[in-house]
Amino acid sequence: MGKHESVSVMGLHESVLCQEAVDGLSVKAQGIYVDGTLGRAGHSKAILRRCDDCFLYGIDKDPYALRDSCQILDKFTGRFKLLRGDFREMKSLLADEGVCKVDGILLDLGVSSPQFDDPDRGFSYHSEARLDMRMDLSQDLDAEEVINTYTQNQLQEIFSRYGEEPYSKTIAKAIVESRATKPLITTLDLVNLIRQTLPDRVLSQKGHPARRVFQALRIEVNGELEALKEILKEGPKLLKDGGRMVIITFHSLEDRMVKQAFQTCSKPETVDKRIPLRDSEMLQSGYRVVNRKPITASEAEIANNRRARSAKLRILEKKEV
Ligand SMILES: C[S@@+](CC[C@H](N)C(=O)[O-])C[C@H]1O[C@@H](n2cnc3c(N)ncnc32)[C@H](O)[C@@H]1O
Repeated sequence: MGKHESVSVMGLHESVLCQEAVDGLSVKAQGIYVDGTLGRAGHSKAILRRCDDCFLYGIDKDPYALRDSCQILDKFTGRFKLLRGDFREMKSLLADEGVCKVDGILLDLGVSSPQFDDPDRGFSYHSEARLDMRMDLSQDLDAEEVINTYTQNQLQEIFSRYGEEPYSKTIAKAIVESRATKPLITTLDLVNLIRQTLPDRVLSQKGHPARRVFQALRIEVNGELEALKEILKEGPKLLKDGGRMVIITFHSLEDRMVKQAFQTCSKPETVDKRIPLRDSEMLQSGYRVVNRKPITASEAEIANNRRARSAKLRILEKKEV
């Protein structure tokens, strides 16, 4: 199958921490909200339901997410607009719509169930597909290219950093040796190689042996950490006074980035301590971290949706002046 021929089916995505995310946004009348990770519009729908006259921009870089969400949000016609693009370009996507400030931004990071479940897209280690893993089908870099062209050191680094794979070096070495004879083209080529490489005692442990490598590849192919880094810098600047940014993460690296960025935003600007200033003259930070501890899913939600078990939700607010 060629790079641009992947087929998608309308699948369902069980939204994680949906109520908590919409509460966190504190949706208000006539507010303008941006869902930067539209997916199958679960959170978007809940935002539009919360208030009769708010407006929503839904962004996704996956064309199938936009196509399906347009149908899912059908009954809210006139109250939303869907934009194809990367949330790291949120500022310019909104500027093209004549919008420079919004009341709330939501990000629910990672992959959606329809992306994972569509066997042709190569996200899943359970079914045979070309090694693809692109959310944005117009981008060139895909998992096949990463696996067959990155150096051993580069592969080891991404498996270790993004996948926390303890056997990153062994697996990276095996990939480089194997591809010298024949390129690795499909998901199962990679899964079989990982199975042949890992010791039996690791293979007998709980969890799929290729899970960490697949997660790392997905993060690398889609530039997920770079996009998050950029939106953490630009997103808060897009908020109106009283506006909120809500981020749901599923990976400890991402949660750490969000926590640190929100803390930095909320720290007062430093001034030279030798300058005598009254309290009222001290520079105040323009933002407030709403929840010091991340909000996590209830046991009931986790029992219903295993994906929720690693979810962490954090909220930042632009202070009213
Ligand atoms: C976990 S799903 C979101 C599910 C959605 N909240 C729902 O309730 O249906 C993440 C979605 O964000 C998209 N996505 C991930 N990173 C993105 C980025 N940097 N820019 C735009 N879309 C992105 C993916 O294509 C996927 O559709």
